Amino acid sequence: MIDTLNIPIQRTQNSRLSQVDFNNVPFGKVYSDHMFTAEYEDGEWKNLRIEPYEAIQISPASPTLHYGISIFEGLKAFKNGDGSINIFRADKNFERLNVSADRMCIPQIPEQIFFDGLHALLELDNGWVPDADGTSLYIRPFIFSNDDYIGIKPSESFKFMIITCPVGAYYSKPVKVKIEDHFVRAVEGGSGYCKTGCNYGPAMYPAKLAQQDGYDQLIWTDGKEHKYIEESGTMNIMLVIDGKLVTPELGDTILDGITRDSVMQIAKDWGMEVEERKVEVEEVITSIKEGRLTEAFGAGTAATIAQIELIGYKGEDFQLPPVEGREFSNRVLKELDGLKLGLIEDRFDWISKI
Ligand code: COI
Repeated sequence: MIDTLNIPIQRTQNSRLSQVDFNNVPFGKVYSDHMFTAEYEDGEWKNLRIEPYEAIQISPASPTLHYGISIFEGLKAFKNGDGSINIFRADKNFERLNVSADRMCIPQIPEQIFFDGLHALLELDNGWVPDADGTSLYIRPFIFSNDDYIGIKPSESFKFMIITCPVGAYYSKPVKVKIEDHFVRAVEGGSGYCKTGCNYGPAMYPAKLAQQDGYDQLIWTDGKEHKYIEESGTMNIMLVIDGKLVTPELGDTILDGITRDSVMQIAKDWGMEVEERKVEVEEVITSIKEGRLTEAFGAGTAATIAQIELIGYKGEDFQLPPVEGREFSNRVLKELDGLKLGLIEDRFDWISKI
């Protein structure tokens, strides 16, 4: 890497920092003072800058609005005991953003622009990183088409932006999930493994129907037979069956979750058996009935570890063992929190510091 990019900064004259109650921050509603932008035009990324957070202009003909030409990431920063800031596994988010970019005909974002933009923004807005229990700074990098053309073709101009927001828990209590056996989130050959808006918009209607029936979220199943569980849309699904950590194997249809990967690495480090494989719905239901499924949880950046208290399938609800007694998921949540906050030695090399 060459020298740090010299990113021009226009500071806000009206900081909103003093108006925020950091002990009570809902997810995704309050944004930090500044945002980072880079523009892609004539085959190169340029015009890097940090400006006050505000609404942006976009052409009414932008393919972003018409065809969903957008990709995004989610990562978190934490306030360390010594006042410094820990960013968790940003290298994985950088890699995954470019995997999504490939699939959506978006040019690769150079490593230096991603990291220098991120670091400059966090240095400037470091006062926005909360330190109350269970809070963090959620970081949302995203890229979208900035073309002015409604024909169907790969775009030629883009914006890469980073915005941040102090957040508390995404799910404030254990969730009830329904195994979806009609609607489909992703199919083989599709874009389910990417973080593109195209995967999230159409998932809301089936989720809304499930919410009307009292569930919080769905567990999606495969698009061919609805035979295998996949992911939850907001998080990957992880189970403890017969004392082993079991999670659906990755493929075209499942996001390569960074929390999922972290949980698996920690489990292996603790000597636990980990199985990444196809997981049949039937196996989930049978193992609940036989008392062999002792824990179920979602793993995601926003959700962290979201305990699943109940699984619904074909009109029947299956109550899972009490959350308090779940040895692995409670312990892994504590371990992840300890690593992110710098309370536990960073033996996996997951933390970068500001
Ligand atoms: C994340 O976990 O970062 C996501 O992008 C999921 C979204 C539901 C907030």
